[in-house]
Order: sequence, then structure tokens, then C-alpha cells
Amino acid sequence: MDFLKQISLKWKYFTGTLFYLSYSPNAYFYSRKRDRLEREFPPPQTREAFDNPGKLLRAEPNARGANFYFEQAELEISFLTPDLVRVDWKPGIPPVPYGIARHDWQEVETKLEEADDSTAVSSDTLKVIVSIDGSLKFCHSSGQIFREELPPKRKGGGWIHQAQLRKEEHIYGLGERAFALNLRAARETTEKGELTEQPKTFQMWNYDAAGMYGVGSDPMYICIPVYVGMHQQGSYLIFYENSFEASFTFDDVATADFEGGELRYYVTSGTPAQLVERYTELTGRAPLPPRWALGYHQSHWGYRTEEAVREEAKGFAAHNLPLSAIHLDIDVQVGFRAFTIDPDRFPKLASFTQELLEQGVRFIAIMNPGIKYSRHSNLFLEGQILDAFCRQPDGKLMVAPVWPGWCVFPDFTNPTVRKWWSRQYEYLLDVGVAGFWHDMNEPAAFILWGDRSLPKPTQHFMEGRGGDHREAHNVYGLLQAKAGYESLCGHRPDQRPFIVSRAGWAGLQRYAWTWTGDIECTWAAMRLTVSTVVGLGLSGIPYSGPDIGGFQGNPSAELYLRWFQMANFLTFCRTHSSNNVAHRAPWTYGEPYLSIIRQFLQLRYKLLPYFYTLAWEATQKGYPPVRPLFWSNPDDSKLWGVDDAFLLGDALLICPIFEEGARSRQVTLPKGHWYNFWDDRLLEGSQQVNLEAPLEQIPLLVSAGSILPMEEDNQLILHLYPPVQGSSEACVYSDAGDGYGESRLDKFRMVRFDDGLELMWQQEGEYAFPYKTIHLHLHGIKLQQTWMDGKEVAFEGKYLECAKFGQAYFKGEFVAPELL
Ligand code: NOJ
Repeated sequence: MDFLKQISLKWKYFTGTLFYLSYSPNAYFYSRKRDRLEREFPPPQTREAFDNPGKLLRAEPNARGANFYFEQAELEISFLTPDLVRVDWKPGIPPVPYGIARHDWQEVETKLEEADDSTAVSSDTLKVIVSIDGSLKFCHSSGQIFREELPPKRKGGGWIHQAQLRKEEHIYGLGERAFALNLRAARETTEKGELTEQPKTFQMWNYDAAGMYGVGSDPMYICIPVYVGMHQQGSYLIFYENSFEASFTFDDVATADFEGGELRYYVTSGTPAQLVERYTELTGRAPLPPRWALGYHQSHWGYRTEEAVREEAKGFAAHNLPLSAIHLDIDVQVGFRAFTIDPDRFPKLASFTQELLEQGVRFIAIMNPGIKYSRHSNLFLEGQILDAFCRQPDGKLMVAPVWPGWCVFPDFTNPTVRKWWSRQYEYLLDVGVAGFWHDMNEPAAFILWGDRSLPKPTQHFMEGRGGDHREAHNVYGLLQAKAGYESLCGHRPDQRPFIVSRAGWAGLQRYAWTWTGDIECTWAAMRLTVSTVVGLGLSGIPYSGPDIGGFQGNPSAELYLRWFQMANFLTFCRTHSSNNVAHRAPWTYGEPYLSIIRQFLQLRYKLLPYFYTLAWEATQKGYPPVRPLFWSNPDDSKLWGVDDAFLLGDALLICPIFEEGARSRQVTLPKGHWYNFWDDRLLEGSQQVNLEAPLEQIPLLVSAGSILPMEEDNQLILHLYPPVQGSSEACVYSDAGDGYGESRLDKFRMVRFDDGLELMWQQEGEYAFPYKTIHLHLHGIKLQQTWMDGKEVAFEGKYLECAKFGQAYFKGEFVAPELL
């Protein structure tokens, strides 16, 4: 049997390789064309290159700050809020504000103070000191400097911008990265894969990490010019509103080198939570997803027929595994063409999607932006009428090879094109497709060498002002997501959109989730996922996750299991794999793996009230549900470099296992106290501990003071983990799970006394309480007596069934923290 399996896998691999090779001639001709166009149409050169802006001539106050006139440049400083400042160095092409969600800011009182060799403009929270040579210092109102910038340099049509980094400073963000969480720890590798002393230069150019990527690959699919700096004097965030190709290096100085555009950036300071809150106020927050999306998704490049999909769904039911969605890859399409689903292989799509829905499973369809360049393609003909496709500088259509063969590319920087594209989703929505998976939207093209996208001189509309691919490339996927999102909102207004997009830029969170692409199938790659997902969250994107088990390759049973145990606590939880590897589902490896995965998945579904409340919090504050360990403890520098564990909200600390055979691991505990989820042992924080990790567990800790909501069989289960002293608060958000109706917040406050624990419950909102019963589960206390709203009630061990109440008191004896 094993032998047959091996043969069939080899055959799959062989045919897969042939399939790729069949694209080579097109890829060859395209690579040559791209190079020729880039040679013939180099970037426009400007005459104003300079090494510094010259001397400051004068400063004038403006409505939100001040304008500074230098010999060769102009600087405008505007306070959007007292702690968010926008800096504009001109000349340069001003950005089209694709990344920005908020334009109406309240007035901010600012003042301008001139000294001998500098001028300062300040709000009551932040001060920017502008030196006579164009260097800038950002300070808190206390006078403490948190960022020092060198005078910017103008080169070509772009800018080079540098800032001093403190010795201890850590850097996070830049969108999606395949590195240590602290980007400053990232080093260049030699061709042999050895690390050098050179800091890594990160490219800002959305890139199809085709086939598979691993530790060190750069760039990736979502590049965002935003980073967080953390040092002893606090933390700050800087976002460059510039979508041009760029590179970032973090050595003694941070260097941002843009190929074009004005140098416009935003700076704010505060705790990590405050930084993300401000940044997402500026670039927008993720709307509440449909609740089902927080469940489990199954995918494989290889479900060709209705029957195959039906069998997959049945597999989940047969193995008693919950499933929320199945993702259909390009092989369900006709000739890999966008917006098609083969009617021979899916003859009754509307009834099939309905059949799946009745089992609680949603049908998600893939969508690539490249349109088959053929007069036999309706989409091509329609687009031609609208002049919807990107063109070369000589006016010819820009044609490049992707899955359907030679393709043209909608110019999403044109609102008419976005509107046309939006309409295409409608008939798939009408037959019950629940959401869309935007792939290959960097946009990707097949090449034999060089960049995997459109040639840089490709022309774009840029909302009417014109521009080329150097500027439009990084926002291409973002704008496709905008078109898709608007379509789903408009055409199906009673349901919330669900789109997963591979590429994106600042603001992608307003429209779509993402997944971390074609990751290789190794333990190191799995570990990398933590940094990538946490880094995306700090870059404003709260919903992401990896292909569980890796994209290309066949993981060992243990790797798949450990990968699953980790991804189970990420916002987007999906198994996906390539077309030339073995089909992979939770039951692939048999026992004991299947039962363990089932337990984890069941735990995820029980935790849905918690996930959903975190999703609601993301709509309010932009906080990513998946957070770095330093999130609530930015002063503890020992946590700044930890990227082998993550927090899910404030309550859960997840420590995945990244090694075959490992049955325990070292865990760095943030301050406070932590309960071991599996056995309720209470551990003191601010220390390293070794925790057990038998195959059926990974170290999972609950912060003391947490009120962890779970659900099962229409019952709300509140797990109370007493604080070690004082009080704590938490809430549970509920609504219908989709649509835009009423909602409610159940707010809890827990207070610890010497002889017990008090729990108060307040409710807000009109949505009816969605649970039949309430179950309280007390941890870390040996119950002696309990009262609800003054009346004594019975309990069993540490459990208590009850109806809604206002105040409860649990008398008992607390367990002491363990001394390790
Ligand atoms: C590339 C995507 O990253 C991958 O997830 C997908 O399976 C293939 N394209 C085929 O559509």
C-alpha cells in the first residue's frame, strides 16, 4: 500500500512539474519583453537631486502645525491628533490616499517656538524639533526624545530617509516578513545560506514567493512601509504613505529608500496597543467578519469536482470534525479563468452550495486578477470596451502569462474598472458562493528570470492623475480587495463580506484577511509563522494564518499535528497544500493524530465567543487578536525578542512546539501570574519555565484574572481564573454572527477578597442573550460556599450551573502560586 502511495505521489510530482514546464516558453518571451520595456522606459529622472534640503530659511504656522521652507525643499508638519503627526517633505508626487481611511480630523492646538538653531512645533503631547539643517527630533511633552531623523536626501524621483536607532532598539512590522519578529535581528545570508554580519535589507515590492518560501525569503506578498520601534524611552510607529518600490535597512540607522513619490509619513508614540490603535484609526480597521470565518477552513489545490468536495465535507462529518468552509482552487475553473466554475464538474452549483451550507460548510471560490487575453473571453471583451486593462507606455495592452495563458490585467487604480470588476462577483454570490480567495494579485506573472510581476513602466490610471507600476504595484492587491469588498457589501447587504487576499498594502484590513502564502513544509517554516503573523498584526492586519502543514511538501505526522496545534489559536485556521503533494486533511495521519486534532478543533469552536469578542475589539481599537508577548508589558525588554510564542488576546499565551520529538519546551512568562490551562497549576510570571508538551498538548497558559468565555451546546461557559490580587474585567460580545443587526456586550468584573471572589455582571445592547444556560467553571480556588444575587446556591466541585445574575460571591480557598 505504502509503495503504491509513493508511486502515486511521484506521479503527482512528475505531472505537476510537467504542468509548470509547459508555461516556460511564454515565461521566456515575457521575461525578455519585461526587460526590454524596463530598459526602454527607465524611471523619470528629476533635476532636484540633493544630499540635504539646505538651510532652513523660515517657518510659518499653519492650521495644524507649521510649514518650513528650506533652500531646496519644503516641509509641512501637521498634527492630526495631539499624538499623531504627519510630515511631508516636498517636492515629489503626492500619494493617492489609498492607504488612508480617515480624512476628517478634529482641530489640534499647536504652537511654534523658534530658537537659535532650531524651531519646534508641538501639541500638548508631542513636539517636533526642526533643526536648521533639516534634521528632526520627535519628543514627548516631557522633553524625552524618542526618534531622531537625519536630513532627508532626494535622489531620482524619490527620497532617502534615515533615523538613528538606539543600541537596544527593536523593530517590528513592514507587513508580511519571513524573519525573526525583531527585524533588526535579521541578517543577510550568503548564497550558501550562511549568516553574515550585514543587516538585512527588506524590499518593499509585493512578491509572489512562488512555489515555496522559507526563513529569510524577501520580499513577500504584502509589503507595508510601517514599523514600530521599541527602546528604553518608549515605543513609536512610523508609516510612510508612499507605495513606490523601496528598501528598508535597520543598522545603526534605519534607512528607508524610496524610488519615487513625496516623502510623506506619520509618526505616533505610545504603548504597542496605542500605536496600533492610532495606526488603524488612520488606515482603517478590519470590519467584523462573519462568525463562521473564525472556525476551521479546509483547502487543497486538487478538488476538481463536486463529488470531491462533497467527499471532503463528508470526511469531516464522518470523523466528527467541525468545518466552516472549503476553499476551491483554480482547478474548479474553466481553463483557470477568473469568475468561472466548470459547469460540467459542478453542474448544479446553487443546489450544491446549499447542500454544503446545510452542513454548516461555506463554499469559497478562488479568483485571480489576470484575464485570459482572447477574443473568446467575454471578460476580455467587456474590459476592452471599458479600456479596463493596464497598458504599456506605447499604448499596447500589457500582456503577461499566468495560469490561463497570456493574460491582461485590470487596472484597479481606475474607479470605473473597480466598479466593473465588482459586478463580476454577483452571479457567484447569487449561487451561494460565500466568499472569495484573491490569489496571484501582486499581480504575479510567470517568468524565467527577474521580477515576477508586470514591467515597471506599465501605465496606471491612479484615480485620473496617471502613474506607472512603480507606484501602483504595491496597491494592486489592496484595490482588487476594495472592489471585491464593495461588491459583497453592495450585492449581499445582509451578510458580512469574507475575502482572503494574498497581496495587499496599508489598509488591506478594511477589506480582507490574508494567509501567509506558499510556505515550505519544514519545522523552521512553521516557527516562522509566529513572527509573520504577529508582524502582520503590528502592521494593522489582524486576520492571517499559514497553510497548515506547509504548502509544498508532505509534512511528517508530527509536523502536521504541531502545526495544527499552533494554527488552532490563530485567527485564520486553514489547511492548504499544493497540487503535487499528497492530499492533506486532519484524518490523513490516522491515530493518535486525528483524535488530538479533533480535541484541538473542538477547543477552538468552544473558544468562539472569545475569538469573536477579540474580533469585535479589533473593530473598535484595531488590536490584533494575535499579539507579541510584550504587548501589555512593553517595559520588559526581555520580551522584545520573543517570537516562539504568542498571545491570543490578553488571556491566552500559546507556546507551540517546533521540533520533531520534543515533549517539553522553555517558556518565557510575562509578568503577573499564569495558570497552566491543562492542570490549573498557578505559575509566577517574569521567569523562564520548562513546561511539558506531550503529543496531545502544547504549553498553553491563562493569565490570572482572565474570564475566558467558551460555549458548548448552547451554553455559555465562563472560566474564571482569579487574579492574584485586586480585580480584573472582561467582556463577551455577541450578535447574530452575520449581518448588521443588534448586538450585546456582557461585561464582567471579578474582585478578589481574602476569603473568596466576587463576580459582577452588567449587560449592554439590545441583542437577546443567545445562550440557554450559564455554566461557571472556577479555577484556582477550592469552593466552600456560593451566593448569587444574595441567595446561596449549590455547586459541584468547581462547577456551577446558573441563570443570569448581577452579582455572585464564591467563598473558598485560593491555590498558591507554585515555586519553580
Ligand atoms: C498560489 C497560491 O499561493 C496557492 O495557495 C494556490 O494553491 C496556487 N496559487 C494555485 O492556485
